[in-house]
Amino acid sequence: CLWVRNLRLKRRLPGPFAWPVVGNAMQLGQMPHITFAKLAKKYGNVYQIRLGCSDIVVLNGERAIRQALVQHSTEFAGRPNFASFQMISGGRSMTFTNYSKQWKAHRKIAQSSLRAFSSANSQTKKAFEQHVTAEAMELVQVFLRHSTDGRYFDPSYEFTVAAANVICALCFGRRYGHDDLEFRTLLRRVNKFGETVGAGSLVDVMPWLKSFPNPVRSVYENFKNLNEEFFAFVKDKVVEHRESFNPDITRDMSDAIINVIEHGKDSGLTKEFVEATVTDLIGAGQDTASTFMQWIVLLLVKYPDMQAKLQELIDKVVGQDRLPSVEDRSNLALLDAFIYETMRFTSFVPVTIPHSTTSDVTIEGLHIPKDTVVFINQWSVNNDPLTWKDPHIFDPTRFLDENGALDKDKTNSVMIFSMGKRRCIGDQIAKVTVFLFTAVLLHQCSFESDPSEPLTLDCSYGLSLKPLRFCVSAKLRGKLLGLVS
Ligand code: HEM
Repeated sequence: CLWVRNLRLKRRLPGPFAWPVVGNAMQLGQMPHITFAKLAKKYGNVYQIRLGCSDIVVLNGERAIRQALVQHSTEFAGRPNFASFQMISGGRSMTFTNYSKQWKAHRKIAQSSLRAFSSANSQTKKAFEQHVTAEAMELVQVFLRHSTDGRYFDPSYEFTVAAANVICALCFGRRYGHDDLEFRTLLRRVNKFGETVGAGSLVDVMPWLKSFPNPVRSVYENFKNLNEEFFAFVKDKVVEHRESFNPDITRDMSDAIINVIEHGKDSGLTKEFVEATVTDLIGAGQDTASTFMQWIVLLLVKYPDMQAKLQELIDKVVGQDRLPSVEDRSNLALLDAFIYETMRFTSFVPVTIPHSTTSDVTIEGLHIPKDTVVFINQWSVNNDPLTWKDPHIFDPTRFLDENGALDKDKTNSVMIFSMGKRRCIGDQIAKVTVFLFTAVLLHQCSFESDPSEPLTLDCSYGLSLKPLRFCVSAKLRGKLLGLVS
């Protein structure tokens, strides 16, 4: 029974004293991942906290996290049964559903259709890269327009639109203009998604907060509305696809998913799972990639010497007459190092989406019962002083070996896409997108921050850490290039 289970959890796992009713909620602070890392120093890498009525195990450091997510991958592959998770993707989300046979089938379909449109063979790879490069050139033009007469602008919305377009083109075969007001408004609202599902969000662990007016309740209500609105937007497009579906021509990922789920042999999923899959993919792909790009540009203006060095390298390798491409990657080790250091230093997905245990399990000699909520602290892996010298310092060269090549051991030690059965399925397309966006932006433009505003690396907490508003200006370097077909 629950009582015996809780008693066992209490006896076996170390952790701070939990207050009645709120547990440790008041101790989390503004940046829970940093609090979690501090608590690990006192209680070890595996410990227990309580938030409201939920006992939660927090995992820190590479060894404990790897042991859990890789060695005990099935036991840690669950998701908690949080009320907010049921509101996502029409209640049929793959990302936010518990471990089951159906989840396995759903994840396989999402993963294989994503691969089919981005990396299945050299042709799809090329098509995907060209389309990302075209999106990057749109960004260049929008940025230059916003910088007319030396003006400064907030690049965050443009990155949101660009990242959403990369995934919308895969899913719907179309993109949206940066001045499409309806699309911008939708994305601006979706931007708030991570506030509710980030580890340490209180709505799911203190359900009674929903019964009287308070800031948590309004976050919860907004979350419900934004998910409904976003799902309706996607559903509309999927319905159009369904109506014009032709089994002989697969136009895009929506068609591919309709084909497997509705026309395939016993997918085990009903047709409503098509719109849920597409909603999941657009939601997951857009928010993370745009946050990543905001950090990239913020760090480029924060470290102008690094920006100049990267441009010098790109000029040497690529020249002025063509745009950078993925083939240049092996000659642009410093650029990759800069991207990896951005992932490590910002750890902008500091804690994964909450997991839960699918059966009783023992980790580092500590017993964790079935159905326990588990927080995985990725930030603690990226800031471990035993792996990283001076982890608080931004230094891309830490990823280069003595010959100036990318150090694969080091890049493999960065943890931002999680690991094991729930590992991100968009990591490859995210890496290609961020590499091409950054290379093209640096090749075409120089960025500087607004000198009238202090430049800070402070951020807001959620599923992803987002930089506070900052403004930049972009200047054209050399000539504005078109796309090579
Ligand atoms: C899950 C990171 C981009 C699709 C996740 C998780 C993380 C993550 C940390 C949670 C893993 C866990 O709970 O253990 C990132 C980062 C990205 C990125 C840092 C960009 C830089 C993308 C893109 C897509 C995508 C572009 C798809 C187009 C997904 C899906 C899941 C997921 C579907 C759920 C997997 C599951 O629950 O089985 N991602 N992601 N992600 N990501 Fe990503």
